[in-house]
Amino acid sequence: MTEIKHGKVLVFDSGMGGLTVAREIQARAPALHVDYAADSGFFPYGDKSDEALRARLPEIAARLVEAARPDVFVIACNTASTLALNEVRAVLNIPVVGTVPAIKPAAALTRTGVIGLLATPGTVRRAYTAKLIEDFASEIRVILHGSVELVRMAEEIASGQAVAMEAFRAAQAPLFEADGGAEIDTIVLACTHFPLIRGELAATVPHAVNFVDSGEAIARQTLRVLPESSAASAPGGHVWLSSAPEQQARLVEVCHRFGFDMVHEVTG
Ligand code: DGL
Repeated sequence: MTEIKHGKVLVFDSGMGGLTVAREIQARAPALHVDYAADSGFFPYGDKSDEALRARLPEIAARLVEAARPDVFVIACNTASTLALNEVRAVLNIPVVGTVPAIKPAAALTRTGVIGLLATPGTVRRAYTAKLIEDFASEIRVILHGSVELVRMAEEIASGQAVAMEAFRAAQAPLFEADGGAEIDTIVLACTHFPLIRGELAATVPHAVNFVDSGEAIARQTLRVLPESSAASAPGGHVWLSSAPEQQARLVEVCHRFGFDMVHEVTG
């Protein structure tokens, strides 16, 4: 279902993953001005310490919002949202939408009562993730696996590089080899990079499973919080990077393919 919505949304991630969220927002509200931002100077987030990310996120969010002047800021990153959503909200005076693992819909979908969760190591160890499981999947077995390797593989695939299928099988194997893993029927893609490799993941699981992500829910929430007064605006398509675009040819090229082709660098 598409909606007539106006206003300006800035979708933010460490790298290319948030493009999967931007795509969902654009599909739902084609008249919206959507811009993109990637913290390319600090990529990947998945293996950074909590302290480093907690210091980084409010600061980069404030800089990006000052540059792009959106009506809504979307943190299209599980690793960042599950750690510092409140810290980012505290420094911005516009609505901030976060991304959290789709544990609730996965718990509603499973028939075997066993779900897998693929994320970054950061998201896997978060108290926020444990609380989601406690709140929405207490009767369900949730097997978690964190991989930064998969984030890198997603960026390679998105930019047209070849990655051996065996690498996707190996990256998911810990889920299925865990106690109860043979009964997994639903996998939560709890990293916004992973919808970029949904086909590769689906082709290398040992048995058929459903893959669930948060993209559509984030798009709905973004439109819900968009201020009524947001004005009609030009179509968008800007992309802000936190490192020199000349050193990010792959990222720039993929952003371009998703419709973000006016490239800027934010500096401190
Ligand atoms: N796309 C991010 C997420 O949803 C993480 C990627 C990274 O490790 O930088 O968690």
